[in-house]
Amino acid sequence: MFISISYQLILIILGIYSITAQSPCDIVTFEYGNVCRCTEKYCDVIDPLGIIPNAQAAVYESTSEYAGTHRLTKLPNLQFQSQRNPNITDLYEIDYTTTYQTIIGFGGAFTDSSAVVTSQLSENLQKILLEQYFGKDGLNYNIGRIPMGAADFSLSLYTYASVPNDFDLNNFTISMDLPIKIPFIKSAMAMSNETIYFFGSPWYAPDWLKNASNPVGTLNGVPGDKYHKSWARYFSKFIEAYESQGIPIWGITSQNEYSQVKDFKGLFYTSQQLADWVRVDLGPELRTNHPSVKIMIYDDDMDLMFIRIAEMINRNTSINKYVDGIAVHWYATVDMIFPDFYEMYITRLAFPQFFYFASEACEGYLKADEGPKMGMWRRGTNYALSIIGDLLVGATGWTDWNVVLDLHGGPNQFQYYVDSPIIANTTSGNVFYKNPMYYAMGHFSKFLPRDSIRVEMKLVKEEKMRYVVPLKIVSFKTPINQMVIIALNQDTNHTQIVQVKDPNHGYLTLTLLPESIQTIVYNVATTD
Ligand SMILES: *[C@@H]1O[C@H](CO)[C@@H](O)[C@H](O)[C@H]1NC(C)=O
Ligand SMILES: *[C@@H]1O[C@H](CO)[C@@H](O)[C@H](O)[C@H]1NC(C)=O
Ligand SMILES: *[C@@H]1O[C@H](CO)[C@@H](O)[C@H](O)[C@H]1NC(C)=O
Ligand SMILES: *[C@@H]1O[C@H](CO)[C@@H](O)[C@H](O)[C@H]1NC(C)=O
Ligand SMILES: *[C@@H]1O[C@H](CO)[C@@H](O)[C@H](O)[C@H]1NC(C)=O
Ligand SMILES: *[C@@H]1O[C@H](CO)[C@@H](O)[C@H](O)[C@H]1NC(C)=O
Ligand SMILES: *[C@@H]1O[C@H](CO)[C@@H](O)[C@H](O)[C@H]1NC(C)=O
Repeated sequence: MFISISYQLILIILGIYSITAQSPCDIVTFEYGNVCRCTEKYCDVIDPLGIIPNAQAAVYESTSEYAGTHRLTKLPNLQFQSQRNPNITDLYEIDYTTTYQTIIGFGGAFTDSSAVVTSQLSENLQKILLEQYFGKDGLNYNIGRIPMGAADFSLSLYTYASVPNDFDLNNFTISMDLPIKIPFIKSAMAMSNETIYFFGSPWYAPDWLKNASNPVGTLNGVPGDKYHKSWARYFSKFIEAYESQGIPIWGITSQNEYSQVKDFKGLFYTSQQLADWVRVDLGPELRTNHPSVKIMIYDDDMDLMFIRIAEMINRNTSINKYVDGIAVHWYATVDMIFPDFYEMYITRLAFPQFFYFASEACEGYLKADEGPKMGMWRRGTNYALSIIGDLLVGATGWTDWNVVLDLHGGPNQFQYYVDSPIIANTTSGNVFYKNPMYYAMGHFSKFLPRDSIRVEMKLVKEEKMRYVVPLKIVSFKTPINQMVIIALNQDTNHTQIVQVKDPNHGYLTLTLLPESIQTIVYNVATTD
């Protein structure tokens, strides 16, 4: 608290910082940048939206340390103008008559590692951490991914069916999840003000179903046989076991990263094998026993998405009646360097019958760039870039990976470490740090409730000579009739000033500092 106040005072004296949040970030500077520190005594909270006067728009901003370290900081409201400012070349126009996908939600994954890390904090701090994501003053997360059994971010390799040749799954048990993971999930549910949609994803099948021992291998036999049927039944058993614990399962993905044979990734299929298993075994199993559970296929990287989905659907189109959605991961899309959202765009054009959903993402996953980089602003803007990019090509939601990790980016049973929006000190158990990625998520999850609808926003006039990377911008109308615009200025050196025209309100001028993210919220005018 003391540090954040003195930091603000210095900035105010320097004339850099004139916004005072009610409960600002307690800034701590690490090697790569600034994080916000949370202890039992203090944790920053986002200023409430409150009532937005007519002809005004609320603005929340996050910026790098070069531009004042705003973290979802509420700026003074913007005023709509009736006249266009001819000095600002770039103009975006909202077109309410053209609408796109409906939002399912935003969230993260309840991995064993996240559950264990959280359990190592003091009880009060555990509560504060979950409130940061799920509480009413937190990020309004409403999606939770649940690994079905162990993932790489677990402390050991286990499945729910460890008794060999138990094809009827009489000995199926989620007992491994009972001590830590399920209480963790239930605490989040208890804090949340809305229905969290949980979806399960398996990493490993039991050894006795596979042609090789864990962690790699494929299912024995062919679709329709006892191995494939038993593995499909495993999904129903998971859904039933979790529901009996009071955790309703909204959906499942057919397999996490099915195409990746390498080291610890889990169960391998070709696209054709996966499609046949879903059509012959998993689809009929779930449609019979759990007809409302959404079935998402793919759940793999975006880079080869089109060709692989085409292989699955074209192999036998009767798979269509079992599939609700396509889940996709951000890895290997090189989308941080050459945005590659085109893959999702063309897949959705070819297969519009499904919803598209980003099911996993994290930073620090590349070997050369492995693990946490505390405070690195670029990792936050990468999240924002990926989310806006996905939303612009039709994604209905976005799911982060581990909700929290320790200072090393683990624990991970294969010593493979990554970054997380929240990093906790498990040695002291009395502090955690919120990385830029946390706030990047919040720019979306906090302001885009489920059932928000994307509304067309067209760039109608643009500077001829442009030395800056174009703005990434997306707009939605929420169920309570608010417009939400989220914009990312990727340019590291130039402020971008653009105008947005709302047909019923007039013109807003947005000023985006270098590498900043803004969320703009206003009430949709009632036209009567
Ligand atoms: C546009 O720029 C001119 C010249 O700098 C200035 O006189 C004018 O007031 C500006 N218009 C607006 C709407 O800001
Ligand atoms: C598996 O379940 C069966 C039937 O419920 C039970 O008789 C058996 O002891 C169990 N086996 C193991 C290894 O738990
Ligand atoms: C959830 O939030 C809404 C709107 O703020 C409020 O009316 C409602 O009472 C809340 N529900 C719970 C369970 O907290
Ligand atoms: C398991 O099956 C896959 C696919 O058919 C094959 O590539 C792999 O070599 C097999 N593994 C073993 C240990 O037989
Ligand atoms: C396509 O799938 C349906 C339903 O599973 C099956 O009856 C049919 O034989 C399949 N067709 C081919 C060509 O495999
Ligand atoms: C974590 O806690 C330990 C033990 O109190 C302390 O020595 C260390 O400096 C802390 N590190 C961070 C980054 O909080
Ligand atoms: C652009 O910004 C980056 C990061 O803020 C800085 O390192 C770099 O020197 C700047 N480049 C120019 C040409 O100003």
